[in-house]
Amino acid sequence: MTGTRYQTDALIIGGGVIGCAIAYELAKAGVKALVLEKETLGSQSTRAGAGMLGAQVEMMEPGPFFELGIKSRALFPNLQEELRELSGIDMELQTPGIFRVAVDEADRAALLARQSWQTAAGQRAVWFEDEELRSELGDLLTPKFGALYLPDDHQVRNPQLLLALAASAKRLGVQFIEQTAMVGFLEENGAVVGVKTIEGEVRANRVILAAGAWTGLIANQLGLELPIYPVRGQSFLLDSFAPPTPFTIYTHGCYILPKRNGQVYVGATEEPQAGFDRRPNLRSLAVLSTQAINLFPSIGQLPFAAPLAGLRPGSRDGLPFLGPVPGIEGLYLASGHFRNGVLLSAITGRVIAELLTGNAPSVDLTPFAVDRKVVPQTADTTPTHSI
Ligand code: GLY
Repeated sequence: MTGTRYQTDALIIGGGVIGCAIAYELAKAGVKALVLEKETLGSQSTRAGAGMLGAQVEMMEPGPFFELGIKSRALFPNLQEELRELSGIDMELQTPGIFRVAVDEADRAALLARQSWQTAAGQRAVWFEDEELRSELGDLLTPKFGALYLPDDHQVRNPQLLLALAASAKRLGVQFIEQTAMVGFLEENGAVVGVKTIEGEVRANRVILAAGAWTGLIANQLGLELPIYPVRGQSFLLDSFAPPTPFTIYTHGCYILPKRNGQVYVGATEEPQAGFDRRPNLRSLAVLSTQAINLFPSIGQLPFAAPLAGLRPGSRDGLPFLGPVPGIEGLYLASGHFRNGVLLSAITGRVIAELLTGNAPSVDLTPFAVDRKVVPQTADTTPTHSI
């Protein structure tokens, strides 16, 4: 079938947490928006992710990425209320904070340095020696090198966040097309004016690529070389009627998040070599389980609920791409959020809506500009955010 099936102002490619947050903010601003999703909403890394709002726990240096995360984290309490009012769905924001447990002397020194720059940046970061940690967590952990407590790093239940965003956006008039892949762009006089799908055309004044790990492949159809690539993360859920602690416990290569529904989320591997293969495998889950039991022995007793795997949208310099694509009128990017898509969904939705409505973005987007000089992170450079 050919011909125009839909006409909209803003077309968002990708129905994950980033695409749905953009759709919601655009609808709030009165912009007619449509989300096109090749599978079902939130079925990729949004579903596999942990739902951590780790604006401090995963940041290894101050700078624009850290500030973006802090700004986004601050939006969640209001967003939770707004979405609950519109959709009746609760994203299950939990606020007990995160303990980042040191694994050795070098890790302890790095975490103490992190405490110092994060405190200087106005954030709360409290050092716990082993005895203090034991009195807070009982004998759940056997710490040897102390831990950094980040009381303002929170978590949400990511599938609930997605549902709340999508249902609220729908209530405000956003259209959603699922199970429909785009097969090419519609171009006129150097401008992108929509996309082709096997069901027909979707025409739009603006097109926003928010397709996570697939964004680079899609942009390639326009001759763009974007340094966005898939980084598989594997994790698993355990069943528990009463999670052993309300806190998120995070250490090098492994973290444990107790969820409000009683489940315990254990994450996550980082596997760029897997390409677009998003199947979980036994070896990675075995390594992750061993790390988790070493960190937190009692979870070894909990029944296994489900393995999870998703593709994070990695970016060569560790920063997302947010804003217009120079030289291609009508095209915008919102991708490359790597490990922090859930955290950054709130601010991404907001700034893309601000750009599309002609308002000054509430964050300086220069560091995230699509045409910035991308300096790749290598083994010799310190990543700005990692495990
Ligand atoms: N931010 C957690 C993860 O990507 O594993």
